[in-house]
Parts: sequence; C-alpha cells; structure tokens
Amino acid sequence: MAKKQMMAHITAMTKVTTDIYSMWLRVEGIASEAVPGQFISLYCNNEDRLLPRPISICEINREEELLRLVFRVVGKGTEEFSHLQPGDTIKVLGPLGNGFPLQEGKAILIGGGIGIPPMLQLAKELPGDVTVVLGYRDDDLFLKEDFEPYANVVISTEDGSVGTKGNVIDAIQEEKLEGSVVYSCGPTPMLRGVKAYGEKNGIPTYLSMEEKMACGIGACLACTCQSTDVDDHSKVHNKRICKDGPVFLSTEVTL
Ligand code: FES
Repeated sequence: MAKKQMMAHITAMTKVTTDIYSMWLRVEGIASEAVPGQFISLYCNNEDRLLPRPISICEINREEELLRLVFRVVGKGTEEFSHLQPGDTIKVLGPLGNGFPLQEGKAILIGGGIGIPPMLQLAKELPGDVTVVLGYRDDDLFLKEDFEPYANVVISTEDGSVGTKGNVIDAIQEEKLEGSVVYSCGPTPMLRGVKAYGEKNGIPTYLSMEEKMACGIGACLACTCQSTDVDDHSKVHNKRICKDGPVFLSTEVTL
C-alpha cells in the first residue's frame, strides 16, 4: 500500500467537545486505500513547526475519498488544525501504519479517551458481533452516539456519572462481556490492563499504541516500544510504533 503526500481539502470542521474537534478531509487516493487503525500525518502551515502530526483515522468514506479525523488539541500543531475551515487546504501524508486485522467472531472493542475515534471505522467494518467499551473521565461522552448504529455500546466513567464507575476492564467484568477477539486503543495504563485481560482469558488482543507517536514517519525514534522478539536488523527488542505498528498483538510487545 503506497503512501501519498498531497494537499487535502477540508470539507467539514466541528467542535465535538471542549478540546476535541472533528474534521472531514477530501484525500483522493488516500481514503480509498485506508483501513481502520491506520493514521495520517498532517503538516502545519506554520513553517516553524516542521514535523507533521500523526492523527488516527476515525471514519473512511472510500466512494467520496473522504476521511474523518477526530483529534484533541494538545499543543500548537493541533491548535492550528482546530482553526481550519471548510475550503482550506492542508498538506497530508498517508495512509500510514498497519491497521487492525479484521477477524470473524465476537469482537470487543475498547477505546479510552482520544483512543476512542479509531474504534469507529473498525466497528463499521468488522463482520461479526461487535461490543464497544468506551472509557471516559466523566459524562462528556463524545462519539458515543456515532457508535450506536454499529455496536452494542458499554460505558465506563472514572467519576461514575455514567455506566460502570471505574475503567474499561471494570465495565467488561460488570457486564460479563465475552468475546473471541479484542481490539483496543487508549492510554498506556489502559492498554496494560487490556493486555493482561486478553492474555489471562486466552483471547487474541490487538493494541493500537498510537499515544506514543511523534513524527509518524520513522524519523524521530520517539515512538519505540519494547518488543518480545528481536529485530533482525538491529538485534534489539524494539519496534517503531509508527512504522511497525501502531497495531500490535499484545503478545508481541511489553508495556
Ligand atoms: Fe517518529 Fe516513529 S514517531 S520515528
């Protein structure tokens, strides 16, 4: 799958909640190739900010060559993107990363915080029965309604205001969920819990480790994670999340 660099046209931009934005982009030749779990890199128009920002793909409309990105403003780059308007253009590179393998069977999708958006296209494309467990801080349940047409939705909140009080694993236990495959994306402590849950129950568990990405193009080495096997080339227990991932089987990585 070849990645392309191009100027993308913004077709829609909305504020989802306090610091989270949803953007649709027309990216011919990128959207038609993209799969759930991949990401694209966005370049800032401000040339002081050289490195592109990797952002996961939330939805794909292949017929119309559109991608939806849902991102949190975490710094100057994402702040700049949040001011883009329909009709504006932005340089992008993608699709990047490996994406989630689509497996038959009963899937449990687990998203925490800004790890929630990439679960949406996956929920739309998985062939079997899908339950999605969404972990939030409080009752600001961004994207929850977007999932409802495609999945049984289970919520956990840290403050207990909606659903299970606690984390996503507490919700899985409280709801007695069972699945034959697990897919997840979210902060590292959550992924650690998901890895332990999947391995204890003998369920193939895929982790998207995008939280640790920086340049997204293999250049900065900020994204290495520890792997269980040894890299052929460098002979070390390392993988680059942006190049080798961001999706790994839980048994391939140590967290
Ligand atoms: Fe820079 Fe992977 S994010 S090398």
